[in-house]
Amino acid sequence: MNVKLSFTPVSKNPVDLLAVVLDDEKTLHEVDDAAIAAHVQAAASGFRDKTLKREYFATLPDGARAKAVVVYWSPQLKGWNLWENVKTFTARALRLARDYRLPRVGLVLNTKEAAPLVGKAVEGAVLGIYVFDKYKQEKDEFLAKEASLTVLAHPDHQADAEARKARYAWVSENVNRARSLINEPGNVVTPESIAAEAGEIAREVELEIEVLDPAALRAKGYTGILRVGAGSANPGRMVILRHVPKKPSKETLALVGKGITFDSGGISLKPGDKMWEMKGDMAGAAAVLYAMRALGKIRPDLKVVGVLCCAENLPDANAQRPGDIFTAKNGKSVMVDNTDAEGRLVLLDGLARAGEEGATHVVDIATLTGAVVRALGPSVAGIMGTDRDLVRRVVRSGEHHGEPFWELPLVEEYKESLKTPYADLNNIAAGGLAGAITAGLFLREFVPEGAAWAHLDIAGPMFKDKEWKYFDAGAIGFGVKTLVDLCERFRDPLA
Ligand code: BES
Ligand code: MN
Ligand code: ZN
Repeated sequence: MNVKLSFTPVSKNPVDLLAVVLDDEKTLHEVDDAAIAAHVQAAASGFRDKTLKREYFATLPDGARAKAVVVYWSPQLKGWNLWENVKTFTARALRLARDYRLPRVGLVLNTKEAAPLVGKAVEGAVLGIYVFDKYKQEKDEFLAKEASLTVLAHPDHQADAEARKARYAWVSENVNRARSLINEPGNVVTPESIAAEAGEIAREVELEIEVLDPAALRAKGYTGILRVGAGSANPGRMVILRHVPKKPSKETLALVGKGITFDSGGISLKPGDKMWEMKGDMAGAAAVLYAMRALGKIRPDLKVVGVLCCAENLPDANAQRPGDIFTAKNGKSVMVDNTDAEGRLVLLDGLARAGEEGATHVVDIATLTGAVVRALGPSVAGIMGTDRDLVRRVVRSGEHHGEPFWELPLVEEYKESLKTPYADLNNIAAGGLAGAITAGLFLREFVPEGAAWAHLDIAGPMFKDKEWKYFDAGAIGFGVKTLVDLCERFRDPLA
């Protein structure tokens, strides 16, 4: 879909569907066409006196500046803020245009107050029209191929609007790429295919890359990925992507992603119900991969190293068994009490690598525990960490992009529950309580010394089972936007 900006008045932009967003605090539109303005007025009074309980929609007579007008009322979408709602309304307007076959869509954001929202509208459009329909015979390609969106913006903010449009379109495209990788099933996405995709990305946006195959993993002592992948015919890979800024940077931020391309649980097999969802167990690695792709063009003044820890967790004659013991690179031995607690086993290699890369800051992102889904539900990710500022930075970045994180405490005394008579650490906690926290405590044992660390458990928002905000059902690429923003504003003071 073609997304354009226009800096001329509504009357100079003939469209098929014109969308207007109303808010109770900010004014986002200025309409110089009397017929359209009358509709916006009618909508506004309907919203204010609460007689209109959904969007306002009207068709206009032939010869009008728009064939149809749709007006949205932000306070109707409780629970999200104005900029999230602008994205949602942009997506909804485009779906309306699809269903009525109205190809030229205009969105009015042409006041000074609306200027900061232009990028959000572009994001709403790019994320809103995404559908994962490649395996379907019946597709509706109207939005992708025939529709266009013109965002009407304030003429005093042209350069700013163009910059926002470019930035948000690029990051959103990467969110969509992450969504596709997560939506693809395990027979298509394997550790090897992720490494191949990373290779193409490295070439495309000029990142340094290193791929460790099983022989290299063995040689370097990355045992966790090997053990988890031992039961699969698709052996594991570690992929390292580096953005090295021109000006040497004092800090190095490592982004470590869990990339389990399918998690059956292994010998500690999961129940069959919804097991298919575990094709998305590489959502952390997908977020890191496409955040790195985005950063490859944005080129922040910060060294960023992405580490993807990829393996497939299947039961087989070579699979690891409950009770197996292996020694991690930092010397700590781990007993694999439950082969379904595999994410932390691949991540410990990624954390070791982050240390070897000289990371001063480490953020890992993983669909790590069912427990975090029970605690926070499907829309909020858990965050834990050893560094107040880093945790706050991630939370702030998430807030700016509609990706909520809620901090859970790394309760010191729960460390006891990871004890076993047979090794330094058990990979699951005795008692089965506070599963998200004990997973965090397990990971903390492998964080490189001296590095600031935050751990993001995104098991909840990995998939949506129905349309949500501007997203269609399926993967939402959770974390890409947060990680990109974190890198872009890494040195901004924390307000
Ligand atoms: N990939 C799962 C966690 C998960 C669950 C992600 C639901 C998304 C939705 C992880 O590998 C896992 O199996 N965790 C176990 C850990 C347990 C064995 C300690 C869990 O949460 O049940
Ligand atoms: Mn598992
Ligand atoms: Zn898993």
